[in-house]
Amino acid sequence: KRALILVGGYGTRLRPLTLSVPKPLVEFANKPILMHQIEALVKGGVTEVILAVSYRADHMEKELTEQVKKLGVNLIFSHETEPLGTAGPLALAKEHLIKSTDPFFVLNSDIICDFPFSELAKFHASHGKEGTIVVTRVEEPSKYGVVVYDKNNCIQSFVEKPQEFISNKINAGLYILNPSVLSRIELRPTSIEKEVFPYMAQDQQLYAFELQGFWMDVGQPKDFLTGMCLYLKHVRSTDPEMLAKGPNIVGNVLLDPTVKIGENCQIGPNVTIGPGVIIEDGKKNQKSVRIKRSTILKDATIKSNSWLESCIVGWRCCVGKWVRMEGTTVLGEDVIVKDEMYINGGQVLPHKSIASSVPEPQIIM
Ligand code: GDD
Ligand code: MG
Repeated sequence: KRALILVGGYGTRLRPLTLSVPKPLVEFANKPILMHQIEALVKGGVTEVILAVSYRADHMEKELTEQVKKLGVNLIFSHETEPLGTAGPLALAKEHLIKSTDPFFVLNSDIICDFPFSELAKFHASHGKEGTIVVTRVEEPSKYGVVVYDKNNCIQSFVEKPQEFISNKINAGLYILNPSVLSRIELRPTSIEKEVFPYMAQDQQLYAFELQGFWMDVGQPKDFLTGMCLYLKHVRSTDPEMLAKGPNIVGNVLLDPTVKIGENCQIGPNVTIGPGVIIEDGKKNQKSVRIKRSTILKDATIKSNSWLESCIVGWRCCVGKWVRMEGTTVLGEDVIVKDEMYINGGQVLPHKSIASSVPEPQIIM
């Protein structure tokens, strides 16, 4: 079985993190987003994954090839010389996708859920048509591809980012398609959502598979944090022993085993902390560092008495004493925040030093 992942562009919406690390390698809950997907694909029986990338990133390729070795899956990088959108990359990778007559999976690289690949394949085989897309329900459908389908789950219409409300059922960014779909796609920049799915729907060749459980597009900081909360809640119900326990821990918290947490800190709820992170001690009988709803990436340090809520702290950052950060603040790689600073919704570019407070959301270059 095969899968193609649309790894695509530069991940500009996840800046400043993606200034240092390509989006698919940014750790979500201590593991690159792409590794969550590849591991789930392997569980679903996939043995070959094609990564459709619209730029060359030799470092990323080496890194990923290394990381997937233990999974025993074959990785193929399919490079575009110009961005081909969400359908063009399928035409470019055609030679791989038609190696067998089996249907193949297609994934957007920025979504997280309890990937239902086996069930999806079963459902797809049961209706016998050209394609099945996974759908989920959201509050704000206008940011997504919206679908309308009948009681047999046959899709009547697919509208990408509709201006007016049609339905709150949306395209979750996971598909299974027969190789015959490739005859609908030309080798040029094309949108699968605008130029392929609407026509498949017209021909009654597209079905909807309803997702059970959580789902999130984590390609933006705000949604990244929301997705992390949903993911941790899911881990609580499926793999509770993965979550941290102890007097410092509140709610769902995921800690790398190498994390050092000082005394009198309070971590959680909804926190993930990567390898090598140091959270400093506080004084006796005094609450020290308090972290809620945040992700702290590899090798960062948080000094005593700081208070963080809804933050992403980049690799090797150093957050001083008595700092307060909130409001979806994102620190790029190797940022220094001086003691006693207040940051509200700041997006701080890599290698900066913050020596005056940032009370309103802004980008700090
Ligand atoms: N290889 C390649 N080349 N990949 C691309 C390109 C390209 O030119 N352009 C975008 N991609 C990849 C992105 O990296 C992402 O993984 C995926 O295609 C979808 O692009 P996004 O830019 O993230 O689209 P979106 O989030 O606005 O909307 C899409 O996802 C929604 C679900 O999250 C659509 O598929 C919607 O219909 C869907 O609801
Ligand atoms: Mg997206």
